Amino acid sequence: MDFTMQSSLNVRDFPGLHVACIMDGNGRWAERRGLPRTAGHRSGVEAVRRIVEASPGLGIGTLSLYAFSADNWKRPEAEVGALMVLFRTYLRAEIARLRRGHVRLTVFGRRDRLPEAVRMAITRAEWETRKGNRLHLRIAVDYAGRDAIRMAAARWASETKDPSAPPSREVFASYVAAAAHCPETPPVDLLMRTGGEQRLSDFLLWESAYAELLFLNTLWPDVTAQTLADAVEAFHSRDRRFGGLSRRTGT
Ligand code: IPE
Ligand code: IPE
Ligand code: MG
Repeated sequence: MDFTMQSSLNVRDFPGLHVACIMDGNGRWAERRGLPRTAGHRSGVEAVRRIVEASPGLGIGTLSLYAFSADNWKRPEAEVGALMVLFRTYLRAEIARLRRGHVRLTVFGRRDRLPEAVRMAITRAEWETRKGNRLHLRIAVDYAGRDAIRMAAARWASETKDPSAPPSREVFASYVAAAAHCPETPPVDLLMRTGGEQRLSDFLLWESAYAELLFLNTLWPDVTAQTLADAVEAFHSRDRRFGGLSRRTGT
């Protein structure tokens, strides 16, 4: 499997919770203020900074953020263009801060449809932050969970010697990760979505099989360190049974 520059990343490198965020509500945040939607995206970047900074102190080892879905290409060209400029600016401006915080950044999803300047900014940010060992920050850009599974299936079928024996979940998980051009990461523990909608919008479908789901009405730009702390607290109060029986009651 071809991870190129990310090949040194191991699934156990970042112990701690894997929290995934569907960062929704930027447009509505702006519209409520009479601002253009892009102002909401810009403000959303500030929220990203806040939660990246808060994550290690909350026991989070991996943070996966949904920044741009494969379906978001359907949006008006001007909004898509503004988002691409924002990614590039964020990636360039953030390297020093991420390095100071020992954060390793990787981007997952398709790369081939992104503007060249964004691709270059990604490569550079991944390289410059590769030694980070406190938090693995994963940003999904041009990502679709179903496509990752589809591509993984095609790749596995082309490589297996015995197509009649399905791969184990562990083996297939590594194909799913590779299909989204990312190193394998632990399964999602907590999947939270802001903005009030209660759907997955094609995010991390395989990886979230047993994730605890949390839907917040808060719009993404209003997210603070406290929002994340509350989310983690709510997560710890859940009883994860994975199909078994409760550990709490001892039954
Ligand atoms: C999420 O905010 C950010 C992206 C999808 C890029 P939205 O832009 O979807 O905001 P709403 O849902 O329209 O408020
Ligand atoms: C999901 O938000 C994608 C991201 C947050 C990047 P959308 O706003 O695109 O989702 P839908 O269209 O409401 O399902
Ligand atoms: Mg939305």
